[in-house]
Amino acid sequence: MGKFRIRGGRRLEGDIRVIGAKNAILPILAAVILTRKTVVLYDFPRLADVENMLLILQSIGCQVKREGTTLIVDPSNVNSWVIPDRHVKEIRSSIVMLGAVLARMKKAKITYPGGCEIGQRPINLHLHGLRQLGVIIDESHGYLECEAANMVGADIHLDYPSVGATENIMLAATCAKGRTIIRNAAKEPEIIDLQNFINSMGGKVHGAGSNTIIIDGVDSFHETEYTVIPDRIVAGTYLMAAAITGSELVVHNVNLEHIQSIVTKLRESGCMITPYKGTDAGAVKIKAPQRLWAIEHTKTYPYPGFPTDMQALLMSVLTVAKGTSIITENIFENRFKHVPELIRMGANIRTEGKIAVIQGVPVLKGAEVSASDLRGGAALVIAGLKAEGETIVDNIHHIERGYENLDLCLRSIGADIERI
Ligand code: EPZ
Repeated sequence: MGKFRIRGGRRLEGDIRVIGAKNAILPILAAVILTRKTVVLYDFPRLADVENMLLILQSIGCQVKREGTTLIVDPSNVNSWVIPDRHVKEIRSSIVMLGAVLARMKKAKITYPGGCEIGQRPINLHLHGLRQLGVIIDESHGYLECEAANMVGADIHLDYPSVGATENIMLAATCAKGRTIIRNAAKEPEIIDLQNFINSMGGKVHGAGSNTIIIDGVDSFHETEYTVIPDRIVAGTYLMAAAITGSELVVHNVNLEHIQSIVTKLRESGCMITPYKGTDAGAVKIKAPQRLWAIEHTKTYPYPGFPTDMQALLMSVLTVAKGTSIITENIFENRFKHVPELIRMGANIRTEGKIAVIQGVPVLKGAEVSASDLRGGAALVIAGLKAEGETIVDNIHHIERGYENLDLCLRSIGADIERI
């Protein structure tokens, strides 16, 4: 298993660029099989989760070619409706293939995606929505065997604005007869990106970004070229790195609208964050104080609330802030696995159910720590940038699911970090 060695205490400086959003790319890769024509996608990071999705596309008959950060997919010869188990076990978010395979092949077979480190990750809302479209789903022997010969548009209300359920229903509904309405839909920017991608191929989806999405089924799709939105969580990660090290940094390729809740919290802790004039459209400049103020209470909520994916990263920053901060994790039931590792580095954190109380300490000490999930692992790297001495983060394969060459990126702005 790979490890990162970080020597903390250094200021960061300079410019860094954010690449395409993992959580926009994954559903868009599923949507690619809606068309039989060639699809060209730009600004594609090399991430383990993306590579796994490409393996899934190839396993059902797609041709995939990568030229740098450009991806060319030919989905004309999709010839299977069975998603291989080994890939679903690798990334549970491959469940979003279900809606797309049903739309294309009118049937699908996929193993039940297990839970993961951060929670049980049920898919009841996905299945409830698909059944309302007329999909017959047999859930036995750990598989979902689905028939979707005659999908008909439906008026679907989600009990919870699930990102994955919204995406799966949206994908299936693109080929259902008539109109589908998804109420209490997820409003994340990645849902808007999926809508825009589907429409760029000739789909008829609108309302994404609001809590009501309308999909009118179409018979066919054409070719498209598309650039995915920047990754708001990677952008947030770089801002947190600057905040914890008291640095000044310019982060490029950022959609300021998508990171409003993150910027608000960092300003509350004493950082100055302003749109950066002079270059590409979206760039922000952060100037962090030597010591941050504690943030009284942060609660994670569906977008546009503070994102659960930023919870661990904010917690790392708050471990050295002046005062006591509280974080409530409302989305996932087991997303505090970074807490014992931060405590090993000298943090003063107490958790009680979904609440964490962080008493700021003046310094963190380097230690050997373990990543156990994607964002929790990134949070340990951020803490290591601040900690005195050397921090070793192991199990970095978790981190590589969502960050491309995080060590090289942070080194390019002055961090002392290397892969060992
Ligand atoms: C997506 O996961 C993201 N993954 C997650 O990012 C992100 O944390 C999450 O949305 C919330 O923003 C991708 O986009 C690939 P949900 P998803 O369905 O779709 C419950 C990362 O770090 N729920 O909105 O699985 C569920 O248990 C990952 O990049 C049901 O009860 O999120 C959870 O408590 C981690 N039944 C809550 O909803 C269902 O059928 C949020 O889940 C579906 C979900």
